[in-house]
This record gives sequence, structure tokens and C-alpha cells, in this order.
Amino acid sequence: MQKDFVSIADLTIDEIDEIFRLSAHLKKEGKEGKEHHLLKNRTLAMIFEKPSLRTRVTFETGMVQLGGHAIYLGPKDIQLGERESIPDCARNLSRWVDCIMARTFTHSTVLELSENATIPVINALSDKEHPCQILADFFTILEHKGRLDGLNIAYIGDSNNVCNSIILFSSIYGLNLRIASPKGYEPHTSILNEANKMQTATFELMVFNKPESAVKDADVIYTDVWASMGQEDEKIKRLKIFEDFQVNTDLVSKAKKDVIVMHCLPAHRGEEITDEVIDGPHSVVLDEAENRLHTEKAILVKLLKAA
Ligand code: CP
Ligand code: NVA
Repeated sequence: MQKDFVSIADLTIDEIDEIFRLSAHLKKEGKEGKEHHLLKNRTLAMIFEKPSLRTRVTFETGMVQLGGHAIYLGPKDIQLGERESIPDCARNLSRWVDCIMARTFTHSTVLELSENATIPVINALSDKEHPCQILADFFTILEHKGRLDGLNIAYIGDSNNVCNSIILFSSIYGLNLRIASPKGYEPHTSILNEANKMQTATFELMVFNKPESAVKDADVIYTDVWASMGQEDEKIKRLKIFEDFQVNTDLVSKAKKDVIVMHCLPAHRGEEITDEVIDGPHSVVLDEAENRLHTEKAILVKLLKAA
């Protein structure tokens, strides 16, 4: 494993498989009441420039379950880059704790932390990627479908950080990915170039401007908010632009009968997804949320055992 987990592209297919195996093991034995103090007395510093429910709770709970602990550093605590430079923050934390997890506005902040820290740095969401989320999501798909190979994944909505990580994962794993976004909100060329550089032979990506085209024969339908954190002032404008990109019962009926519907959460019910779908029989959103815990424990063990 590389020192850091900043991007899905930091992992090879073998490393992803290893993380999934360890996640399944920790999940199963954890539910049987077995303790795994694999990170006894180790400390994780968690830097948050943005709000969080799932990421904060799963990383902190994960560290405690592994015998260590976590320290929450919110925006007002350290004022990253204002009270102190990003490199100075990374160098100081490296003297006290064993790992840094960071949720930042710009991706360059996570990169600057990783370049200046001597301990592992984990990207817990930046404007470019959300790699921890996507590991949990594909682990969830594997649990529900029993395989990843040959599945048709449809992503509907904004080609944002979550979508970028799905693109990179799909290119490493050689999956069929169909994205439907409004004109002007399709994936950036830079992420497509990155994906093309690493792709395995079976990777197939199609981009549409109509959700119906992307969900045809889909095994998985994935959606996310139309305005991500940091884009709040575009919310009203985006509500209009994305109105035809809602994942609702009609759209789900156009996919395979056993399609699963995914959302990283938090969801804006009634916007990108309806209550009926998110609370309905195809939805696996709470499995995704639960699996954040199990996959993040596996990532922490892999990074910290190697460090
Ligand atoms: N999905 C996710 O990262 O949730 P939070 O923003 O609540 O951490
Ligand atoms: N794309 C969303 C994901 C939230 C977990 C955001 O960045 O706000």
C-alpha cells in the first residue's frame, strides 16, 4: 500500500480485494462480539473543514473498536491554513498521532497534508474525490450482488467528487459505467484522462444527458445531491437544471428488476431522490452507511500496520 489514501487511484485491484476481505472479516466477527484491538493505543487526528455525520462517527467509532482513539478537529479548532500553514499543521500532527484523516474544500489541501506529513493521510472527502465512500459502496454492491464483474452501474446527477471516485474505481475494476448528467455537468476531461490511463480492458464508460439512457439494464443506480458542500449558493439554479434527473419510481422501473439504489447520504429527499425510492425495496442506503464503518476500519488497519 502507498503511505496515503488520497484517491481511489492509490489502490491496485489486489489491494481493493484485500480491503474488502478484511472488511468482511471485521464486520462478521464484530457482529459476533469478537474484539479486534489491532490499533491499540494508536491515535487518529480528524480534520474537518466541512460538516459530517457518517464520516466523523464511523472513523471515531472504528478507531475505538480497534483499540485506539480519534481526535475531532473542527474548522474553528485549528483554522487550517489561517492560524497555521498546512505544512506546519501536518508536521506537528506527525509528531503526536499515527494518522491524519481530512475533509477539505480543495483537494490540494489533502495533497499538501500528505506531502508534508510523515504519517498516513486519508482523504475523507475533498472537492475532487470521496474515496472512503466509494470503497464502502462497492463493498455493499459486492455483498448484494455477490460479484462486481460484469455489472452495469448507472450514476444519475452531478458529476461531482463521489462520481469521480466511482469513475476511478470502475476503471481500475473494469466495470460498465453509464453516467447521466445535464449538459455542462458531465465528468471533467481531467478525470476521464486519469481513468483512461489506469483502465483495465473491460472498463466501459458512456456519458448521457438523459437518465433513461443510463439506467437501461442497470444493476445499480447511484445518485447524490445536486449541490455539494461548498456549492450552496448554486442550489436554486441547480434545482432547475437537474429537475429531470430525479431518481424516482418511474426511473427505477426502467432498470433491471433486481436493481439496487444507492446514495452516499445526506439525501435531499424530493430533489435527487424521492421518499418512495430511498425508503423502498431497492434502496441499500443504510447498508452503505453501515459499511463505511467496516471498510474504514480495514483501511486504517492496512495503512497503520504498514506504517
Ligand atoms: N456520506 C458521507 O460522507 O456523509 P457525511 O457527510 O455525513 O460524513
Ligand atoms: N457530493 C457531496 C457528498 C457528501 C457526502 C458533497 O460533497 O457535499
